[in-house]
Amino acid sequence: MAKSQYIFTSSQHSKELERLQAIEQVFDPASQRRIQSTGITESWRCLEVGAGAGSMTRWMAGAVGESGKVVAVDLDTRFITGINQSNVEVLEADVRNLSLEDSFNLIHTRYVLIHIPDFQVALTRLLKLLEPGGWLVLEEPDFSAARAIAGEKAACQSMNHVNQSILQMFENRGMDYALGSKLPAILQEFGLQQLCVENDVPLSNGGSGVATMMKMSALQLAEKYTATGKATEKDIEQYCLFADDERAWAIYYATVGVVAQKAAA
Ligand SMILES: C[S@@+](CC[C@H](N)C(=O)[O-])C[C@H]1O[C@@H](n2cnc3c(N)ncnc32)[C@H](O)[C@@H]1O
Repeated sequence: MAKSQYIFTSSQHSKELERLQAIEQVFDPASQRRIQSTGITESWRCLEVGAGAGSMTRWMAGAVGESGKVVAVDLDTRFITGINQSNVEVLEADVRNLSLEDSFNLIHTRYVLIHIPDFQVALTRLLKLLEPGGWLVLEEPDFSAARAIAGEKAACQSMNHVNQSILQMFENRGMDYALGSKLPAILQEFGLQQLCVENDVPLSNGGSGVATMMKMSALQLAEKYTATGKATEKDIEQYCLFADDERAWAIYYATVGVVAQKAAA
């Protein structure tokens, strides 16, 4: 199996933690609402894949209580090893090779499968680990939704150049930048049932949580963006100014959230 190609692997520790926490601050409320819709309760066993900085793991551990359990898996567990809830187990692993004794009532991932070219391998593993009647909650982006809406003309152009570079970067690595929008059909093919689908497309201005988090990504991935030939260093500078300007509005990406159930035995 090819080595994981996670694009933020070489990011500086403090910058990556800051970026992951910015994601959590913006997106945890929607993720929690989706997970609550499954009926999560005490004694459930949950698997959090690509746990990042760990806020969803901590939250699920509270929801399932001492009689339940949360297994948090990530390629890189540096930000979650310190979780000191007794019902949390942290595991450093590539989800594509995940092999566990446990089976789970609920499996959640957010912004993880998009980073895995052979995400079908990961999904197959996850479905094996899901109990009959168990719930899968997947949340993945669709970057093809990105576009500048309002702002200075040159800054809007730069924003759109950077958006093109993001699409190209994913494509060059064999990853699907629009994976989020394809999830419902993919999950149907995998035989999942009771699909509940949401497409969140926030319209964000500079200084908002989404714009700030995307600026952090641009600063960390600047060389990867310019290497595509679709954006220059100047475009990235302009993109960062755009992301700070409260009068500049854009769609940075869409998030597709799918809650689905595995057939009962
Ligand atoms: C964009 S971050 C999202 C973190 C968290 N899910 C969130 O939304 O707050 C992606 C996470 O997935 C992890 N990851 C990427 N590829 C992975 C793989 N093949 N197996 C396990 N974890 C992976 C990364 O290390 C990183 O922590």
